[in-house]
Amino acid sequence: MPSKQKTADQVDISHLLPPNSLFSGLILQWFDLAARHMPWRKSRDPYAIWISEVMLQQTQVQTVIPYFLRFLAAFPTIESLARAPLQQVLKLWAGLGYYRRAKQLHSAAKLIVQQYQGRFPREFPAILTLPGIGRYTAGAVGSIAFNLRVPVLDGNVMRVLARLLDFHGDIAQPAAQKLLWQIAADIIPADRPGDFNQAMMELGATVCKPLSPACDQCAVRRFCLAQQRGTAEMLPRKSKRTAVRTVTCMAIVLQRNEHTLLCKRPEGGLWSGLWEFPAFEIYGSKDSRHALNAAKKRVKKSLGVDIEFQAVHKPVRHQLTHRLMIYQILIGSIKNGRRDAAAGKRITMHLPYESARWVRGINSVPVARVTEKILAVAEAHIHNNRSTR
Ligand code: ADE
Repeated sequence: MPSKQKTADQVDISHLLPPNSLFSGLILQWFDLAARHMPWRKSRDPYAIWISEVMLQQTQVQTVIPYFLRFLAAFPTIESLARAPLQQVLKLWAGLGYYRRAKQLHSAAKLIVQQYQGRFPREFPAILTLPGIGRYTAGAVGSIAFNLRVPVLDGNVMRVLARLLDFHGDIAQPAAQKLLWQIAADIIPADRPGDFNQAMMELGATVCKPLSPACDQCAVRRFCLAQQRGTAEMLPRKSKRTAVRTVTCMAIVLQRNEHTLLCKRPEGGLWSGLWEFPAFEIYGSKDSRHALNAAKKRVKKSLGVDIEFQAVHKPVRHQLTHRLMIYQILIGSIKNGRRDAAAGKRITMHLPYESARWVRGINSVPVARVTEKILAVAEAHIHNNRSTR
């Protein structure tokens, strides 16, 4: 049962409340007809739902589908995920970003095997204790897989709620989030809580969109105060995050005999344990020439080979949550020396790389999406130079 008619005495939500809420009936009816097909929606398996929800925190549904299918084909059960080497898990995650989540999935799978005999826990407090599982993921798995009456609140649900209630508070503020979590909990019907949560997210993703909400197609528009008052497009209100930092790096692409030199990033920090082209941060244009020359020398020395470098004019830009990464690219050609010269050597650029390896095809090891982008730009450059020669 809902805890109260008014939540925190700030917002009147009585028109959305169960039981017998017309609101939940209408949104569920709409969801039954309009829900997009997603492979995990065919399942009530908590493991499949967990994986899908973690992946969906990274990116959009269409991008997630092939990743989800590959992941579940490789690791069909919690036990198989727990047994897999971390590098294999990271490889299947590569490109989705935020690799810490993949590591936490792996740790949580091991813990479920050890503590729950491989069965995903059914109680909300137990779900919440798993590594990497916060309130959102626990709410999604608990409600969808186990019919628990627990809320989810993601960006889509926040927007839907802010508009339904014509709520003008700043949703970046903890107080507003607390209030919205409480409202999201209060309006869940006892019947089909998981579908209700998914319907709220689906409405936000497909109808109640940030820039041009399709209010004329909205099944619950009669409940929407923002639509009645003409404020939908200005909601939700959200103060800007602190500015993102721009980090400029130089990446060195060295290829030889169809092999590419990659280095393994150290544990901890960004892209921990993933492989990348040896790279270093450059600070300011004056400094960069010095840094570049020093780096060239260092690579040559580390690898014990003579290298000729060529600059690529097009940098690669890659946006992360708190950083804009800009990679200048240098393509190196090895003049002499053995192809395995770098294998096993410790290369120190701006990062103390754990190891270096010549790989055939960069996808034979786990790499971040940005490494694929850098390779594509470098290969286009090599190709263009060859054809204009
Ligand atoms: N976004 C994240 N999880 C979702 C789900 N289960 N349904 C709709 N949108 C989502």
